[in-house]
Amino acid sequence: MYLLTFITKIFHFLPEEIAHKFALSGLKVSHSIGLLRLLLGKNNMGKDISKKSNGKTAFKNKLGLAAGLDKDGEYIDSLSALGIGFIEVGTVTPLQQKGNPKPRLFRNRTDKSLLNRLGFNNKGVEALVEKLKKRNSNIPIGVSIGKNFDTPNEEAYKDYLFCMEKVYEYSSYIAINISSPNTKELRELSNKKFLKDLLRSLKDKQIKLSESFDYVPIYIKISPDEKLEDLENICKSIMQYGIDGIIASNTTVIHNNKNGYGGLSGSPLKNKANEKLSFIKKIVGNKVSIIASGGVMSASDYQEKIDAGADFVQIYTGFIFEGPKLIHDILFRNSPQRKT
Ligand SMILES: Cc1cc2nc3c(=O)[nH]c(=O)nc-3n(C[C@H](O)[C@H](O)[C@H](O)COP(=O)(O)O)c2cc1C
Repeated sequence: MYLLTFITKIFHFLPEEIAHKFALSGLKVSHSIGLLRLLLGKNNMGKDISKKSNGKTAFKNKLGLAAGLDKDGEYIDSLSALGIGFIEVGTVTPLQQKGNPKPRLFRNRTDKSLLNRLGFNNKGVEALVEKLKKRNSNIPIGVSIGKNFDTPNEEAYKDYLFCMEKVYEYSSYIAINISSPNTKELRELSNKKFLKDLLRSLKDKQIKLSESFDYVPIYIKISPDEKLEDLENICKSIMQYGIDGIIASNTTVIHNNKNGYGGLSGSPLKNKANEKLSFIKKIVGNKVSIIASGGVMSASDYQEKIDAGADFVQIYTGFIFEGPKLIHDILFRNSPQRKT
């Protein structure tokens, strides 16, 4: 574990996107030659211990990797070996796209944050489906879907339905990303004008697909920048249309980062994301499942989300800064008040 932490810190001397690629490729190689297991040591990390119940893979714990880390599902087997309970891959769009011009990812070591304006760079939903078919691990997989940058909002529902149909039978849940700040006007999909029609068409598609396959829950990923009044309306619509869950939340655009526009994640996001999480919990109670995301950099940050009512918790920026040690701390460090 110490060696892995050391390697994680070394990657921080490389430019952000190169470090990301190198780190994930290194993980994949070390997993394929059996080295990862040795580096991780004991505590069940290093082997896939996903439980099976009624033929379906159950979540072995409540900790997951958030969307955006493995956009194209290329690292599922090696990431699953880290001990986490689930992985959300994507966001994918119907057609592959390059995303925004580089540089578009910035690390700030002082406040432990990332600023990104990637813009849904991905290889397209069909490429992801091929990866999902070929994976060896049976860890639960959420698939995050979005719309292509040039699809107008009036037509956006078609992109979501297209992706949903493709990934449905390979997913443990489907995340509807309407909150990335890096695709122009995407966040408007949470407005009254679009939201109800989108939710209705997603629900209809889910009912239809569940006649041929197992029932796959749908989660809507929201922005932490929603006003409380709007958030209340979103929650009510989600309940009205029988949507299964909410992911709270994506990155924030309210910041003065020196690198310009984009979504901010990590430590500075935590309080805002937690406020929204508590507010959502108050409205939806136990009627809707909640995956909490935003600013989990330590085991106590994880516990705060559970205490605020999260059913599951995801990490992203914390994993970039701390590496596999963060997963280890959350899952295996003996903490008297920890309830996983
Ligand atoms: C580089 C980067 C890329 C991301 N890409 C996506 C994405 O494709 N889809 C998505 O729903 N969220 C994406 N996110 C948001 C994360 O999934 C997560 O919700 C957010 O970063 C807050 O969690 P954190 O503070 O633990 O990082 C991305 C975040 C980062 C830092």
